[in-house]
Amino acid sequence: MPDPASQPQQPPVEPERLDLRSMDIAEARRQELFRLFPEIRTEGGKLDFDRLRLALGEAVDVGRERYGMTWPGKADCFKTIQTPSMGTLRPCPEQSVNWDTTENLIIEGDNLEVLKLLQKSYLGKVKMIYIDPPYNTGNDFIYPDNYAESLQTYLEYTGQVDSEGRRFGTNTEADGRFHSRWMNMMYPRLYLARNLLRDDGAVFISIDEAEQANLRHLCDEIFGQENFVADLVWAAGRKNDSKHISVSHEYIVVYAKNLEHLKERGIVWRQRKEGLDDIYKAYARLRKEHGNDHAAVQSGLKEWFAALPDTHPAKAHRHYSCVDARGIYFPDNISWPGGGGPKYEVLHPRTGRPVRVPSRGWMTSDPDKMAAWIADDRVHFGEDENSVPCIKSYLSDREHSVPYSVFYQDGRAATKRLRDLLDGDYFENPKDEGVIGKLVEFATEPDSLIVDFFAGSGTTAHAVLELNKKDGGNRRFILVQLPEPVDPESAAGKAGFKTIADICKERVRRVIKRLAAEDEGKLNLNGNGAMQDRGFRVYTLAESNFKPWQSDGPKDGESLGKHMFEHVEHIREGRTEDDLLYEILLKSGFALTTPIETLTLAGKKVYSVAGGALMLCLERPLTMEVIRAIADKKPERVVCLDAGFAGNDQLKTNAVKIFKTKGIGSFKTV
Ligand SMILES: C[S@@+](CC[C@H](N)C(=O)[O-])C[C@H]1O[C@@H](n2cnc3c(N)ncnc32)[C@H](O)[C@@H]1O
Repeated sequence: MPDPASQPQQPPVEPERLDLRSMDIAEARRQELFRLFPEIRTEGGKLDFDRLRLALGEAVDVGRERYGMTWPGKADCFKTIQTPSMGTLRPCPEQSVNWDTTENLIIEGDNLEVLKLLQKSYLGKVKMIYIDPPYNTGNDFIYPDNYAESLQTYLEYTGQVDSEGRRFGTNTEADGRFHSRWMNMMYPRLYLARNLLRDDGAVFISIDEAEQANLRHLCDEIFGQENFVADLVWAAGRKNDSKHISVSHEYIVVYAKNLEHLKERGIVWRQRKEGLDDIYKAYARLRKEHGNDHAAVQSGLKEWFAALPDTHPAKAHRHYSCVDARGIYFPDNISWPGGGGPKYEVLHPRTGRPVRVPSRGWMTSDPDKMAAWIADDRVHFGEDENSVPCIKSYLSDREHSVPYSVFYQDGRAATKRLRDLLDGDYFENPKDEGVIGKLVEFATEPDSLIVDFFAGSGTTAHAVLELNKKDGGNRRFILVQLPEPVDPESAAGKAGFKTIADICKERVRRVIKRLAAEDEGKLNLNGNGAMQDRGFRVYTLAESNFKPWQSDGPKDGESLGKHMFEHVEHIREGRTEDDLLYEILLKSGFALTTPIETLTLAGKKVYSVAGGALMLCLERPLTMEVIRAIADKKPERVVCLDAGFAGNDQLKTNAVKIFKTKGIGSFKTV
């Protein structure tokens, strides 16, 4: 095959430019519609609404009055969703723990921008989202979204004043748009969050009565009423703050991405019953004391249950108070469900006389099966034939149950634990990591990805790390937290914390340290036989590393000249090669923790991403030798700096041709 580089001069061929914007949400939706209804695509690639209407037939509601919810600013929510982010996430290895091995992320930034930036790489990958947004109680800060200049708002916010020099403030009830502001903040975030969920994923949202009703309406619209799972009640301890009724609970609103899908796939949520560990401990102690004297162990267990306070979680299982060689069991009903079952004769093993038959008949119509159960000591008989026997239901077979909708957990204990961990009272009202851990336990699998984009003090990361330790799981987390400033006069401020994001990172660092100390001398492996992921990478939200070319800017000679001059170096000052690397990764749709190998090809540094799926060269100038060397590796995609060609159109044209000849699907410059 002739070498394209040795071909005579040809007109320059431009490679495609890497799209530095976050995912185009509206376009993605249009493509979904085109996939479902190919007939609605017009010649120009637009959407023919009339054909869509025809395709949907009777299902189109043409009435003027419709059920639904609206509020001032709702239309702008869609503009907010559709305006792409031009931001990036800058890596901060110095603030991270185990950068090279971890897949967990703590991202500092406004979650709207961050959710947009995560769309390309994490679409449909998240199993569970837990969030604890501001409850809108009148004292909390509601982030001032501005759909047109969302990133600009953030940059001003992190300077802590708005463009007019005013401080960003709280949402107060005196504001005529009190609820609307909250809903305008929540709607776009929930919408974007839904995109991240897997089909079998679910979202859990903490809320109290101030916005619970509005939240349900928002979620009905975004997730669909049919995907509502439950409103959990978190009884978080008594408060004495009302003249009428002292509200001592809040809610966790749960929606599935696709409840039907969960049902079809037979995915069930199961929770380990509370208090079991205490029961097993008491049993082990009694076995040690009484050996195989099951009657003595049994009466000891009954006494132990009787002495428990009513509030102890094990008390709910006190009916599991019988003991045999297999362990602890509960004598359960042996009759035919609903009645009308078979009534054959069963003999008492000691007296040899027929026992009383249950009025509804035996639970099995097969007398041989019953005989096998008896021979296997699975039937619990009374003293003599005058009582109906029972079937033994062992605690070890019934350790899990469908989760109940009410959680009892006193929030003050979580505050105290966080205070002990951080050596100070630095964060008000953290959620209980035990309760969040329970939600994570039943709603995820051991290798799931969990996201919390209102992270606060990092309770969700704490819960995930603890749960992985407990069950050998390999769950990963992504937290997003605004660098909301802490009052310099508060305890946290005096201890040197500048923002809530700092508190969050420090908490997770300390949890990791504590788990490592607990595991000292042990191999803390996960279920896959690899080391547990005890780390996190920190990234911070910032403007793109690449200055945008403002095609809509002023066109007069002076302005254009100035803009072109600024664009000679289109990489922002102070940005590192790693900054560029991770932006390209993110904008090319790779996860931020994708493995990257650094190679030297023809004397130039080349990054090989995801085992060579993407090859990236940020060197300048580029040479024909490195282009050939990259092409020889046959990656699926290649990205280079446009500036790497240093105005050498011939080299660029040849690069396009060489990559094409080698069958490389995509070659882009940035
Ligand atoms: C109620 S707290 C979460 C507490 C957390 N569950 C815990 O246990 O520590 C809500 C957090 O969301 C953060 N937040 C508010 N608006 C945000 C935004 N636009 N982007 C990211 N974080 C935001 C606030 O700084 C606050 O720390």
